[in-house]
Amino acid sequence: MGWAEQCDTCTLGPFLLQTMTTLGTPLSPNATRVMLLGCGELGKEVLIALQRLGVETIGVDRYDHAPGQQVAHHARTIAMSDPAQLKALIEAERPHLVVPEIEAIATPTLQALEAARVARVIPTARAARLTMDREGIRRLAAETLGLPTSPYRFCDSLAELRAAIDGGIGYPCIVKPVMSSSGKGQSKIDGPADVQAAWDYAMAGGRVSHGRVIVEGFIDFDYEITQLTVRAVGADGQVETHFCAPIGHVQVSGDYVESWQPQPMNAQALARSREIAKAVTDNLGQGLDGDASNGATAGLGLFGVELFVKGDQVWFSEVSPRPHDTGMVTMATQWQNEFELHARAILGLPVNTALKSPGASAVIYGGVEAHGIVFDGVAEALQVPNTDVRLFGKPESFAKRRMGVALAYADDIDTARRNAKLAASLVKPRAV
Ligand SMILES: Nc1ncnc2c1ncn2[C@@H]1O[C@H](COP(=O)(O)OP(=O)(O)OP(=O)(O)O)[C@@H](O)[C@H]1O
Ligand SMILES: [Mg+2]
Repeated sequence: MGWAEQCDTCTLGPFLLQTMTTLGTPLSPNATRVMLLGCGELGKEVLIALQRLGVETIGVDRYDHAPGQQVAHHARTIAMSDPAQLKALIEAERPHLVVPEIEAIATPTLQALEAARVARVIPTARAARLTMDREGIRRLAAETLGLPTSPYRFCDSLAELRAAIDGGIGYPCIVKPVMSSSGKGQSKIDGPADVQAAWDYAMAGGRVSHGRVIVEGFIDFDYEITQLTVRAVGADGQVETHFCAPIGHVQVSGDYVESWQPQPMNAQALARSREIAKAVTDNLGQGLDGDASNGATAGLGLFGVELFVKGDQVWFSEVSPRPHDTGMVTMATQWQNEFELHARAILGLPVNTALKSPGASAVIYGGVEAHGIVFDGVAEALQVPNTDVRLFGKPESFAKRRMGVALAYADDIDTARRNAKLAASLVKPRAV
């Protein structure tokens, strides 16, 4: 089914082929329908933002009652990495937009459906495919775009890993499965004695067991940032790039625990960061045919560009073609948070990336392994000045699973960070 046929079934017709400045009524024949692939805490907030614009939403995840499914009009549970299941669902639901929220998706299927004009993929199916593993995006950034990155090699065996380190990467270095996120399977190697353990850990932590890793030289950065970057349609109908204030963050074992905005930066490092972010997002915004004037390949949406900074020097690390976990802080700091920015941009609406107040976020972990946990101390947490709490509603808790986030705004970053961390620490997950 192509777009033309799809639009025979609704009254919005050809508007949807371009930038969708006409929005429909949910659960009616003229509904504007958006499918989220992945319904974690980030997808949940995108879905809420879409709901507020009267968009009909379909929340897809691999398990029932995922956070975003709880707020979508329709909940669907499939294995999104299975090409046949993914194709069948998209063809059955006929969403106008397909919005990937996670990496582990059958992205070649998305490319095929986009090419057949069955649905628009946000920002593009090509971007989803290139960023689903570390190799696609690293080669694009370093080799095609010539952006500064850590030195790196890809290895398929322990012997290759040893050879790559001895052959130039050196110590310390970081090993990561090519397919993993949130630091899973990732470790730092300080010397030859650590190599075997790092390899074994990567093999256990990767998303699929094809045993390929990236080894990266360790960058001794002063700080790291997420540069949220939005591609949205401007008043003249052309795609414009907007930047949010830089977000600083702390990662423990490759997983975000704390973030704040704005991260103070010198003017040169900020300018360099935005040049890099623009180069990467311009490229990822191009579809297969490279025609950015076509609604199918305008590459609209918000991106989280991860960068390392030392003095004036900036290195590209990776990019999410979707809202970023460290960007949850924007729920306390921006007039339009990153989820609202994404929702507006993908619908062809204007965006405002202005900062409202400095602020911070701190993660609330499950701490326990149990289904249907309860949270004590929420009232105490909210006694901390200018704080807010989001509990994601995940049906099952693990010790290191992110179950919620505390947010704080303040006149300065230090106060905001202190209050966010205090509020997070006062929320006590408990098995019943
Ligand atoms: N080459 C490097 N040098 C120094 N630190 C690094 C390097 N690579 C990664 N790190 C640290 O590890 C963190 C996680 O790395 P990376 O973003 O590549 O992993 P990830 O699993 O994709 O994490 P996430 O999904 O949370 O973004 C980085 O934010 C940074 O703090
Ligand atoms: Mg990362």
